[in-house]
Amino acid sequence: MKNIVAIVLITFGVLSVSVVVGGADNRIKINLAASEKDFILEEMRHYVSTIQQILVVLSEDDMQAVAKIAKSNSLENLSISEKKMKKVLAKKLPKGFQRLEKPIHKMFGNLAKIASSGGSAKQIQKTLGNSMQNCVACHATYSITALNSDKLKPKSLLW
Ligand code: HEC
Repeated sequence: MKNIVAIVLITFGVLSVSVVVGGADNRIKINLAASEKDFILEEMRHYVSTIQQILVVLSEDDMQAVAKIAKSNSLENLSISEKKMKKVLAKKLPKGFQRLEKPIHKMFGNLAKIASSGGSAKQIQKTLGNSMQNCVACHATYSITALNSDKLKPKSLLW
């Protein structure tokens, strides 16, 4: 199975060292409190949802909508509790993780800028595609484990 997947990847020219299928999970485990893990995963799900929405409005050439959706994800749009959580996490998350994460928030800001300043759909796709290498790289490198179960804390701190 592993070989078949490798052949398919090579056949289609998708040569990515970060794609490991069926192998042992050698990713670096980040230990966090359960509420912190929930916070990050919720943020992740929001990324997918935002990108999906951007792709739909992009296919309709609705640049205003692209800008609006992208902007809702930029750093300046974080609430106070979200900013607090980010500060706590900044002390806990490995530097390598943070280096990969920062450009994602910047990416949404950039997408909003491109869309609202007459940029083309191609430019948006290119920025999105390039920046999403960080999603792939980080997922290939890190996983998160929850240390304790502090479920009594508010679960939804983000969006
Ligand atoms: C800096 C690191 C990093 C970046 C950048 C990153 N992720 Fe993640 N993401 C993670 C980690 C760590 C997990 C948890 C994986 C695990 O524990 O197995 C995760 C999990 C997810 C999940 C699963 C959420 C759940 O509820 O289980 C989704 C979906 C996801 N990421 C989407 C994205 C998308 C889309 C991007 C880019 C726009 C992205 N991520 C960028 C680190 C990152």
